[in-house]
Amino acid sequence: MAMEQEKKPHAVCIPAPLQGHINPMLKLAKILHSKGFIITFVNTEFNHQRLLRSQGSDALSNLPSFHFETIPDGLPPPENHDASQDIPSLAKSVDETCLDPFKNLLTKVSDSYSPITCIVSDFLMGFTLAAATELGIPEILVWTSGAGSLLCYNQYQNLLEKGLMPLKDSSFLVNGYLDTVVDCIPTMSGIRLKDFPPFIRIIYPGDEYMVKFLCAQVERAKMASAIIFNTFHELESDILDTISSMFPPSYAIGPFHFLEDKIADKSLASIKSNLWKEEPECLKWLDSKPPLSVIYVNFGSIVVMTPQQLVEFCWGLAKSNYSFLWIIRPDLVIGDSAVLPPEFLEETSDRRFLAGWCPQEQVLNHPSIGGFLTHSGWNSTLESISCGVPMICWPFFADQQTNCWLSCNKWGIAMEIDNDVKSDEVKNLVVELMSGAKGNVIRKNVTDLKNKAEKACTSSGSSMADFEKLIHLMQEFSK
Ligand code: UDX
Repeated sequence: MAMEQEKKPHAVCIPAPLQGHINPMLKLAKILHSKGFIITFVNTEFNHQRLLRSQGSDALSNLPSFHFETIPDGLPPPENHDASQDIPSLAKSVDETCLDPFKNLLTKVSDSYSPITCIVSDFLMGFTLAAATELGIPEILVWTSGAGSLLCYNQYQNLLEKGLMPLKDSSFLVNGYLDTVVDCIPTMSGIRLKDFPPFIRIIYPGDEYMVKFLCAQVERAKMASAIIFNTFHELESDILDTISSMFPPSYAIGPFHFLEDKIADKSLASIKSNLWKEEPECLKWLDSKPPLSVIYVNFGSIVVMTPQQLVEFCWGLAKSNYSFLWIIRPDLVIGDSAVLPPEFLEETSDRRFLAGWCPQEQVLNHPSIGGFLTHSGWNSTLESISCGVPMICWPFFADQQTNCWLSCNKWGIAMEIDNDVKSDEVKNLVVELMSGAKGNVIRKNVTDLKNKAEKACTSSGSSMADFEKLIHLMQEFSK
């Protein structure tokens, strides 16, 4: 063990093995590192290989007091090494197989680097709490989504007990039942069944397991020393207040990327968390466009759509007449890779840029971007707020429906596209967002929230205050 490291606190950070969870955990790790923590960052072997392929091994080695380690996810090697893994299978495998490898790793890194003073684990990696208890190490959980979606997952048991869910059959997806308003969360009044994370409908294979898994994580979370949220008080203060009576003490220190920009060590800037290789050429194309003239389209890392839905988006964008930057992940469309209609490609050739993966935060920050057509993943939502970009939402699963409801109904910063997407609706919403009266109001609302997010991360802001309290708590652990 290196002598100069003996007294430093040592945090083991373990994200859920998904892009939208690795990103915020890596930012949090960099922020903790800036406060003198030794960091051990634990990926699954599968994801670590993807990170190495997307950015090269140099970026992840020889870093000052920042180490990468891996554990197996327990799944057989997939056919496609660059596609998203099946979520229910991954959740089940990690929950059932990772505890022992994780405990072994804790022992190993404690011996090699420095005694571990805290585990910082993704909420969805609740198995880590058993390791923490057994080894007598304090553990803090990270809820990488907004606080609102945690309140919804917390209602799963209630919805089941009241008989509101599961759906009796798939006809209930379309007969209006999901529009039922459920007034079980005072801070989210008016929320409908369709706005809850949709696993609870228990319609698709894997849903039943996900409901059991998520209810178990919510229960397990009560054993943690604290919970960190990637949100800020000015955005979700009432929801955070409600949460404070149900869960361990919470610290809202978001947007993480604002704190990262302010305080993270620049020597760590080379570490990126992209599982896909970034195509930065789109930034040059954006440079050639006037301010607020481009609609940015990106459905994150997990959404898969049907070929017909893809075609509806194509023609909606074409008919809007706006320029657009569209990120089409290699595995975005069910079945073979996306096939775009040749007439669409021809018609839009002078006003579009297509890529497979982009530096999203830089794109959203670009002055030419006037709107974001998104799946409402939490990172995308928060990044869009941070840049003052209004949104059109097409939520797919998990917390996205709730984030969409909050964005459209509580914060007034977005408009929703019907799940059964049609090109005319896409066109109308794009035109309204970019140049209509409602779009103007939405733009103003999101700019207000952007200013509040920036303020929260200043030295006298709410996120910085919670961060200082969190650091104090974590330093106490090492005494
Ligand atoms: C998943 C869930 O879908 C989401 O609802 C949950 O909140 C987190 O996990 P994902 O689908 O990946 O997330 O969406 P999102 O939360 O938006 O995260 C995607 C991340 O990848 C963002 O940080 C975004 O900046 C980044 N990204 C995405 C890129 O850097 N480039 C891209 O081209 C696309």
